[in-house]
Amino acid sequence: MIKLNEAQTKAMIPDGHILVLAGAGSGKTRVLTQRIAYLVNQLGVNPREILAITFTNKASAEMRSRLAEVTDCADKMWISTIHSMCAKILRFEAEHLGYTSSFSIYSDTDSEKLIKRIVTDMHLDDDNIAKNAMWHISKAKNAALSPERYGFEYGYERQIDTIVSIYKKYEEMLKRANSMDFDDLLFECAQTL
Ligand SMILES: Nc1ncnc2c1ncn2[C@@H]1O[C@H](COP(=O)(O)OP(=O)(O)OP(=O)(O)O)[C@@H](O)[C@H]1O
Ligand SMILES: [Mg+2]
Repeated sequence: MIKLNEAQTKAMIPDGHILVLAGAGSGKTRVLTQRIAYLVNQLGVNPREILAITFTNKASAEMRSRLAEVTDCADKMWISTIHSMCAKILRFEAEHLGYTSSFSIYSDTDSEKLIKRIVTDMHLDDDNIAKNAMWHISKAKNAALSPERYGFEYGYERQIDTIVSIYKKYEEMLKRANSMDFDDLLFECAQTL
């Protein structure tokens, strides 16, 4: 039997939504895996209705192996990184969003390459502009702001007109390549849900 302290036990027993905020190595994953084990082992919840999301691939592999230690149905649960969960949902819904279900996913490195190419094509010989544009584009996407809207709200930012142009071109080229970047995965999935 795996031990939990008092606070952990409180968080383990399912009774509505909970938010656990605790330091590194303090036993968060232990609480989460025990909570899931309690749901399926004690309460008879269908393991196919369990969704366990992590941020990194490493954390999701750890979650899978630790759930396999405390349940015999970890293989039936949906254990995944947030980006991979979004991609999976979006493949079903792609057609409604103007992509095909075989859309490609641009990693941060792919995005950086594309932005650098756009900067070169626009004959902008400023070393920092690509980096700066990447930062702004990600910020805009996380706030769900279109290039026009971002330009309007952040009109006071240095080189904003250039950044807006790069952002527009970047969106155009991604869409034409039937591709989404990491920020699109989160945003499009949230919109779809
Ligand atoms: N109540 C407990 N009694 C004994 N050991 C515990 C207890 N809670 C957690 N541990 C152990 O402490 C270590 C860290 O726990 P765990 O991995 O769950 O923490 P975490 O908060 O998820 O860590 P991280 O921040 O690295 O993700 C593990 O070896 C775990 O088995
Ligand atoms: Mg953990």
